[in-house]
Amino acid sequence: MKLSVIGCGYLGAVHAAAMASIGHEVVGIDVDAEKVRRLSAGEAPFFEPGLNEILAAGVESGRLTFSTDMADAAGSRVHFVAVGTPQRHDGAGADLTFVNAAVDALAPHLGAGELVVGKSTVPVGTAERLRPIVERTGARIAWNPEFLREGFAVADTLTPDRLVYGVTGGSDSEDVATLDEVYAPAIAAGTPRLVTDFATAELVKVSANAFLATKISFINAMAEIAEATGADVTMLADAIGHDARIGRRFLNAGVGFGGGCLPKDIRAFAARAEEIGRGESVQFLKHVDEINLRRRQRVVDLLVDSFGGSVVGRRVAVLGLAFKPDSDDTRDSPALDVAVRLHGLGADVVCTDPEAIDNARRQHPQLTYERDLDRALEGAEAVVLVTEWREYRDLDPVAVAGAVARPLLVDGRNCLDPVAWRAAGWTYIGLGRP
Ligand code: UGA
Repeated sequence: MKLSVIGCGYLGAVHAAAMASIGHEVVGIDVDAEKVRRLSAGEAPFFEPGLNEILAAGVESGRLTFSTDMADAAGSRVHFVAVGTPQRHDGAGADLTFVNAAVDALAPHLGAGELVVGKSTVPVGTAERLRPIVERTGARIAWNPEFLREGFAVADTLTPDRLVYGVTGGSDSEDVATLDEVYAPAIAAGTPRLVTDFATAELVKVSANAFLATKISFINAMAEIAEATGADVTMLADAIGHDARIGRRFLNAGVGFGGGCLPKDIRAFAARAEEIGRGESVQFLKHVDEINLRRRQRVVDLLVDSFGGSVVGRRVAVLGLAFKPDSDDTRDSPALDVAVRLHGLGADVVCTDPEAIDNARRQHPQLTYERDLDRALEGAEAVVLVTEWREYRDLDPVAVAGAVARPLLVDGRNCLDPVAWRAAGWTYIGLGRP
């Protein structure tokens, strides 16, 4: 099938490449000429495991092309809208500038019988609002939210755990048949597929992220209680996680959630709920946000306390800048935030990360970056682990103790074994762990 994907960021580039890998003919459209140049060369413009391979194969096959010209989307049967919906500069709501611009720019190129499929995360009501702009051209519109996680984006796109189609015509509509054809391999594999109206599809996405954020903040709230009582939040998570109704996943207490999705999605959801007169219903999301942001300061406070009240001039190695491992994304990253706060307090901060240094440097050029992990650790008076990359989890406490000036560790992700690190002479400080 001939498809276009408007917007080639973390979502769109993966979607375009994944759709080409299952046999579709795909054109990816983006306003960023440099991004289009790299994608056209079969090279991912960001770090995502497995993406380079399917991009290169798609470009090589001739089925995957990229362009800055919206006119190249003309003639596709399905047009996916995968542009970003960041937080507004002047408030908590979603900035729909890119979605609106994409649909407006696409409209003149649409033809009768074509289907515009929104994948961007949007406030409830957006699809209905865009509907007349699309239908005026003879095309139709559907909303098909995306649940991919960075770091697992290719697998999540090719083998999603569910498909949600927000359509106007119900289960037997032509739009559903079209989407089934797009996702034929996943449908054939028995992937659960839910056909809904627009509002439900839009809400499925934001409520899923709101739930995940709440789960993380719940366990981080328990970490705060654990810190006041001497309990161990990791053991607590293990114990409650055995209850299948609760489940152990997304119960890792630490420096909290970040990234381009969870933080801005809960804020946009709360803002939208206010607009529709239901602010009260999701007021708890404000607490979820507050708990989350408190954990960043907690990591900083723990370190400052361990230096007796001041980190001025203290050499601190910050391990991790990405908002999570296997990603180079530093948008709203708790790791980068901790580094910035420590730097602001006068610490001599040296930051390292396997993939995210370039993005971090663009946001915060004032920090000192070191690509080599050993050099970052050399002479450190404290080590702060804030992104649980595999290479950090695998560090040998004995070897690292030999490299640093003082064996003091704040494990902002509770991902190391306190027993092993203490046995190697370290002062180990976890979050919500005695
Ligand atoms: C999230 C959702 O998980 C995806 O389903 C969704 O499609 C995506 O947002 C999106 O809206 O596009 P992602 O932002 O890639 O995916 O990252 P997550 O794996 O959800 O992690 C988010 C943050 O929570 C990270 O900073 C991570 O370190 C943190 N986290 C996660 C915890 O602090 N504790 C946990 O137990 C789990």
